[in-house]
Amino acid sequence: MRKVVKVGSITVMLSTLALAQMASAGISEGQELYNSYCVVCHGDLGQGQTMGKPLDDNNARRLSDAQLIDVIANGRSGTGMAAWGSSLSEQEVLDIAGYVRVLQGSSGLTEVDDTPVIEDPAVQVGAAVFNGPAGCITCHSYHNQGGSIGPELDGVVGRIGESGLLEALLDPAATIAEEYGVKIVTQADGSQIKGRFRYDSEFAVQILSEDGKRWVTYFKERVESIVDSEETLMPEVYSTLSVQEQEDLLVFLKSL
Ligand code: HEC
Ligand code: HEC
Repeated sequence: MRKVVKVGSITVMLSTLALAQMASAGISEGQELYNSYCVVCHGDLGQGQTMGKPLDDNNARRLSDAQLIDVIANGRSGTGMAAWGSSLSEQEVLDIAGYVRVLQGSSGLTEVDDTPVIEDPAVQVGAAVFNGPAGCITCHSYHNQGGSIGPELDGVVGRIGESGLLEALLDPAATIAEEYGVKIVTQADGSQIKGRFRYDSEFAVQILSEDGKRWVTYFKERVESIVDSEETLMPEVYSTLSVQEQEDLLVFLKSL
């Protein structure tokens, strides 16, 4: 497999193997560069600091190698994350990306195929419902693919049981998965933000943005109110599917 990686203005074609080899060869170079340029915002172990975010959380882990390289090289506009591709060489960007993977507990860049391989045809049909019309993939991930608004669904049946699974699908608000509770932030102008939260302190909460990509901090003194919501972000989509689609989806979910 060959992979096109755009680093700054340069587009490189790398075979998967070359990418992995180049990256693992450069781990210690990557570490040095990381320590010079990234620690100030992301912490010496990628744990995050005031000006940056953790690089060892689920959002950062779920970036594919290409996305990881892209964010380091091209930055995220509108945030403190600058485009390093203009000041670092292509190899240096790869080395740093490899080291970020090490901080995440893996051995470097691996560039796995983006589409999980599913052999069983019945499971494939259910996966197509999950990834397609039902839209589950926008909020949930399996095999490290997908959104992070809802829980990862690998091993879900083992975790909540078959009856728990049915309840989660048919009556999502009945039980809300731990760590996926919702708060409603009302701003001074009356507008409301509703989302998954973390870090609820005396002064601030962090709410996950609607696209599930970033945590936004709201300071309590600057907003009208922050209250718990009984609602869930999980929509009642399952009951809108056809009986056949529901069956297919269950086969797929139980295979995870
Ligand atoms: C001035 C502070 C700052 C520095 C220095 C900095 N970053 Fe960032 N970085 C950020 C911020 C802020 C974000 C979050 C952007 C957002 O909200 O999407 C970020 C996001 C990222 C992400 C995406 C994480 C995710 O979960 O999507 C990666 C990867 C990353 N940085 C790696 C690096 C590396 C590697 C370096 C060193 C070359 C670096 N950063 C230097 C501030 C910084
Ligand atoms: C808009 C985002 C969103 C969509 C779309 C979505 N979910 Fe969810 N889902 C969530 C959230 C958030 C939770 C956690 C809150 C809760 O338990 O109600 C959740 C919970 C679950 C749970 C329980 C997991 C656990 O560990 O307890 C299952 C199973 C599930 N969803 C399956 C699905 C399936 C299948 C679909 C597609 C038919 C789907 N979801 C569509 C957001 C979503």
